[in-house]
Amino acid sequence: MTTLPSLQKIPPGVVSLFDHERMAREQLDDNAWTYFSGGAADEITLRSNRSAWDGLTLWPRVLRRLAGGHTRVELLGRTLAHPILLAPVAFQRMAHPDGELAMAYAAAALGAGVVLSTQSSVSLQTVADTVLADAGRGPLWFQLYLQHDRGFTQELVRRAEAAGYEALVLTVDAPTSGVRDGERRAGFKLPVGVAPVNLAGLQPPPTAPLRAGQSALFDALLHHAPTWDDVTWLRSVTRLPVLLKGVLRPADARQAVSAGASGVIVSNHGGRTLDTAPATASALPLVVRAIDGAVPVLVDGGIRRGTDVLKAMALGASAVLVGRPAVYGLVHAGAAGVAHVLRLLRDELEIAMALTGCATLADASPALLSADLS
Ligand code: FNR
Ligand code: LAC
Repeated sequence: MTTLPSLQKIPPGVVSLFDHERMAREQLDDNAWTYFSGGAADEITLRSNRSAWDGLTLWPRVLRRLAGGHTRVELLGRTLAHPILLAPVAFQRMAHPDGELAMAYAAAALGAGVVLSTQSSVSLQTVADTVLADAGRGPLWFQLYLQHDRGFTQELVRRAEAAGYEALVLTVDAPTSGVRDGERRAGFKLPVGVAPVNLAGLQPPPTAPLRAGQSALFDALLHHAPTWDDVTWLRSVTRLPVLLKGVLRPADARQAVSAGASGVIVSNHGGRTLDTAPATASALPLVVRAIDGAVPVLVDGGIRRGTDVLKAMALGASAVLVGRPAVYGLVHAGAAGVAHVLRLLRDELEIAMALTGCATLADASPALLSADLS
């Protein structure tokens, strides 16, 4: 049994994703704010994710026939009402008591896909049970962090399959956390009552004391980090499509296809892992070219406006994901806040399409971003 998330009101004056961010900042304590909003080190990648979308110019076409247009896209054999999914974000009950449940409700109501984090603070079964039967919902995917205990990981995969998840998203850009100065300064800790519930029962890895000169990273943690062999292994233990999240380089994109990935997500983890990694808007066209239509390419990082979504689609993305903005909606208005964020983004996408002369997203091509291309 799950209870319906509480419905909260959207204050007047909240009309953009940035307004939601402001509202969230007013409500969260420094501990949670630092966790959700922060990036790694000097936050150069965090900022450049935003500035790279802003730096792309839309060159509109005029007088095109737009009546009857729509935002629908095809993705992995399904037709979606629009190309916006919720990115996996850990520990959402730190944002609101309804946490991932409210996220999933809101996404289902708005036809948006959900990628649930391995580190969700509501169980993967509860989230799936709550939204699976909703006819209008988007795809329901499970984000996987490979655990040091591969037996536990395989069981986690089995639980996700049994619960009804439709794809696995293997995150490959975080063999370790980034340098989180903000979290260390704030002395970040998970509040009592918020925990990675899907990992309950996982025993810590056996540790041998490090010898002098050994590294806690290279001689301990990274023994368990995923490699390309694990992608092959994962595919052998699941019938679900596997997407790789956190790919930035063309060579890795090509290897992902060779390894049997069903899709790649161009992502730098929202600037939380490697600082000074490229902005995703810069990496996206390179990955799209390398993949050459073999599998869908998705992108996340800094997407805050309908124009950002349209730019991503013009660069060849099949869909986009948003992370922090949905959390900000959740913080101050629960499920209604998330729904509002998704609604704003979709409405803005429609407006951007209309104003650039795109009746459908198939009309969004690189020519939209350059005066030279016809
Ligand atoms: C994340 N992200 C993330 N990714 C993942 O694969 N598993 C996870 O558990 C998390 N957790 C997480 C927590 C928080 C607080 C943030 C902000 C991000 C990364 C996330 O899926 C996504 O790649 C970025 O958030 C996208 O950037 P924007 O939209 O937040 O700018
Ligand atoms: C993070 C991890 C959970 O970015 O992916 O905080």
